[in-house]
Amino acid sequence: MKESVPGLKDEQPYSDRLQPADKAVAVEFRSVSKSFRSRNADVAALFDINLQIETGEVFGVIGHSGAGKSTLLRLVNLLEHPTSGELRAGNLDLTTLKGAELRSWRRQVGMIFQHFNLLSSKTVWQNIALPLRLAGTPKTGITPRVTELLTRFDLQPLAHRYPAQLSGGQKQRVGIARALACHPKILLCDEATSALDPETTLSVLELLASVNREFGLTIILITHEMDVIRRVCDRVAVLADGRIVEIGSVADLFLHPQHPATRRLVFEAEQINEQEQEQNLSRVAGHPVLRLTFRGEATYEPLLGSIARETGVDYSILSGRIDRIKGVAYGQLTLALVGGNVSAALQRFSANNVHVEKLS
Ligand SMILES: Nc1ncnc2c1ncn2[C@@H]1O[C@H](COP(=O)(O)OP(=O)(O)OP(=O)(O)O)[C@@H](O)[C@H]1O
Ligand SMILES: [Mg+2]
Repeated sequence: MKESVPGLKDEQPYSDRLQPADKAVAVEFRSVSKSFRSRNADVAALFDINLQIETGEVFGVIGHSGAGKSTLLRLVNLLEHPTSGELRAGNLDLTTLKGAELRSWRRQVGMIFQHFNLLSSKTVWQNIALPLRLAGTPKTGITPRVTELLTRFDLQPLAHRYPAQLSGGQKQRVGIARALACHPKILLCDEATSALDPETTLSVLELLASVNREFGLTIILITHEMDVIRRVCDRVAVLADGRIVEIGSVADLFLHPQHPATRRLVFEAEQINEQEQEQNLSRVAGHPVLRLTFRGEATYEPLLGSIARETGVDYSILSGRIDRIKGVAYGQLTLALVGGNVSAALQRFSANNVHVEKLS
């Protein structure tokens, strides 16, 4: 008999109702708050979260310890339930799901963890097979799926090893294979590379980027490593004290952070000392100081020299870096302009798609 689910708008079968009304949105938070009841007091973890995660994007969540990142992630697979507000996927209010329908939603959301959470008494093969067995997949379906995943993630030679016999990177590959076993639409990553060395982190990130591209998988990723965000995410939200304080494309957020919490995280990661910057500014008092941001090809154009020659301005360089965001080069330079025709120089920078921010 079909289970009835309160709060649903129509009588379509569950699988049809899960087809997103707006296919571009994988999951939506509408004014979601979450507090935990402990013996002495309520702990408020999230306040009034409004967020649409788009289908197929890699969405990053950053914020200091205790900001509410893991709680936000655990709401998506309903390991935690909102205290108020709505969580939606298509026409469904996910918070109304129960029983078989709740289990079905959870199968659509895979999860990987910092400490891998593999079952130590089971082999790699058995760990990957576990979610399929729990979902009631017949044996004839389990073997080909596990074999496919072992091959896809280069785990064939390790199939009969136990977790204790694997490196961190190998364990996380098993974690990813297991999370993808039931063909989820969303993959949640809670600090999934934080226990790995930098080289292994890169290989796991490449793997995540490739499954995102190959399967159109939506990925929601929490990390305290800004480099992880820069390499793989499309958009990012900054959480501070349970609220989203800034949200935007990774390039906008890293190159032009607005909120103090975002500035702290980005500057910490880039080892930019705001006090030192202030001191540098005072050394060039009286001269206009600009932060120039070059994106893409403009990063490598020999613009500074030609603009200096044409306009007669000279530069003192106060700070600078060249790096990449999701594979696209960018450069950021803080300069004091000395002498020459400053407004002509500003016009030439803007005409060459260089973002100009006046600092003084
Ligand atoms: N089960 C729980 N019971 C009571 N309070 C909780 C529970 N889970 C989380 N909290 C509280 O909610 C707040 C947010 O916790 P959360 O684990 O989401 O933070 P986080 O941003 O993931 O931090 P970290 O970076 O340290 O992992 C914290 O104040 C935490 O103590
Ligand atoms: Mg956490």
